[in-house]
Amino acid sequence: MTEGYLFKVIVVGDAGVGKTSLTIRFAHGYFIDSYLMTIGVDLYTKNVDLGIGKPIKLQIWDTGGQERFKKLRPLYYKGAAGGLLVYDITNKNSFKHVKNWFNEVQRYCGRIPLILVGNKVDLIKDRKVSVAEEKRLAESFKIPHYRTSAKTGENVNDVFLKLAKFIYETSIGGKNI
Ligand code: GTP
Ligand code: MG
Repeated sequence: MTEGYLFKVIVVGDAGVGKTSLTIRFAHGYFIDSYLMTIGVDLYTKNVDLGIGKPIKLQIWDTGGQERFKKLRPLYYKGAAGGLLVYDITNKNSFKHVKNWFNEVQRYCGRIPLILVGNKVDLIKDRKVSVAEEKRLAESFKIPHYRTSAKTGENVNDVFLKLAKFIYETSIGGKNI
């Protein structure tokens, strides 16, 4: 029997920022152009290899960002070992709301490893969030920051791997399986 770890990770952020697209790109390797809102939550799993001699299974809870799911979210957050705080670089409001997502996650999960993710970097010419603002926010949270594109796949594997590493190193939430 090979030992390993199971990490529950949550993906949060405003509706339409690309949480499902990032998760599907990572877990299945493809991209869908049309928007299909996530109803409640969807679960995905993928094993990652951090070169530690044991497999890590990421159980990804891709949450629905629509306001109507607010009451359900604490249930999804329970037991999360880490998460991605996602905004859309072409949508200023989604960036402004990151602070609320950060506070909500902290309220239910405490200080778990999180990564700030600016998605849709393929649309860089339409960006509405400046590099300085992104940097300032990540620094205020004291967390890493990545820019990704679920469409092209840029940085998508890296961000999930970084999160797995971050969780492993801080040793929060890892369970033997
Ligand atoms: P909710 O489930 O409602 O919370 O939304 P979500 O955050 O899961 O958004 P979703 O992944 O469904 O993506 C919303 C729309 O943005 C879809 O039309 C996607 O095709 C598009 N999209 C997602 N990621 C990218 C990206 O990196 N680049 C571009 N150009 N479009 C993207
Ligand atoms: Mg979704």
